[in-house]
Amino acid sequence: MFDVKNKRLLMLLLTALATTALAATIAGCAPQQADSDKGGASASPDSFPTGSLMALHVNGELDKTDDYSNKFCLSCHPRDVINKGNEDFAGIEGVNPHKAHLESGECLSCHSVDATSTLSCNECHDIPLPDGWQSAEQGAGPIHHLE
Ligand code: HEC
Ligand code: HEC
Ligand code: HEC
Repeated sequence: MFDVKNKRLLMLLLTALATTALAATIAGCAPQQADSDKGGASASPDSFPTGSLMALHVNGELDKTDDYSNKFCLSCHPRDVINKGNEDFAGIEGVNPHKAHLESGECLSCHSVDATSTLSCNECHDIPLPDGWQSAEQGAGPIHHLE
C-alpha cells in the first residue's frame, strides 16, 4: 500500500489527521511496508522489532495467516483478559489502551505485525511507551497530559 518513498508523505498525513479512525486505516497498512526488509513471515521472531507481533508470537501463531482482524486476535486474546492486563497502564490511574474514551479501533492500529508498534493514544497524550514502541505523530490539538 504505502511504500518507503511514501513514508514522509504518510507522516505528513498523520500529522494532519484529526480522527483515530483514519490513523487506524493507515497504521493497518504498515506491515506491508516493512515486509520487504524483513524477508517474509518465516523469519525468526528475534529478527523483528521489539514489541511487534511477529517478535511477540514466539510460537508461530501468526505464521500461517494473513488475517489480522480483531476477530482473529480476540479469538486467542479475549477482551476481558486484555482489558484486565492493562489497567492503570504505565502506572497512570484510569489509563488503559484497550479501554479508551475514544474508539481505539483495530488491534493493528497500535500493534504492528512486523514493524514498530505505535501508541495511537499519543496523538493527543504523552503516555509512557512500552519497550520498543513509538508514539503516534501528534495530532492537530494540544497534548493532554494524564497523571
Ligand atoms: C492462535 C492464537 C493467537 C492469535 C490468533 C493471536 N495471538 Fe497473540 N499471542 C498468542 C500466544 C500463545 C502468545 C504468547 C507468546 C507465544 O506463545 O507465542 C501471544 C502473545 C501476544 C502478545 C504479547 C503478550 C505479552 O504478554 O506481552 C501480544 C501483544 C499479542 N499476542 C497480540 C495479538 C494480536 C494483536 C493479535 C491479532 C493480530 C494476536 N495476538 C493473535 C496467541 C495468539
Ligand atoms: C491504543 C493502542 C492499542 C490497541 C488499539 C490495542 N492494543 Fe493491545 N496493547 C497495547 C499496549 C500499549 C500494550 C502493552 C504492551 C507492552 O507492555 O509491551 C498492549 C498489550 C496487549 C497484550 C499483552 C497481554 C495483555 O493481556 O496485556 C495483548 C494480548 C494485546 N495487547 C492484544 C490486543 C488485541 C487483541 C487488540 C485488539 C482487540 C489490541 N491489543 C488493541 C496497545 C493497544
Ligand atoms: C484525538 C485526541 C485523543 C486521543 C487519540 C486519545 N485521547 Fe484520551 N483524552 C483526550 C482529551 C482531549 C482528554 C481530556 C478531555 C476529556 O476528558 O475528554 C482525554 C482524556 C483522557 C483520559 C482521562 C479520563 C477521561 O476519560 O476523561 C484518559 C484516561 C485517556 N484520555 C486515555 C486515552 C487512551 C488510553 C487513549 C488511546 C487508546 C486516548 N486517550 C486517546 C484526547 C484524546
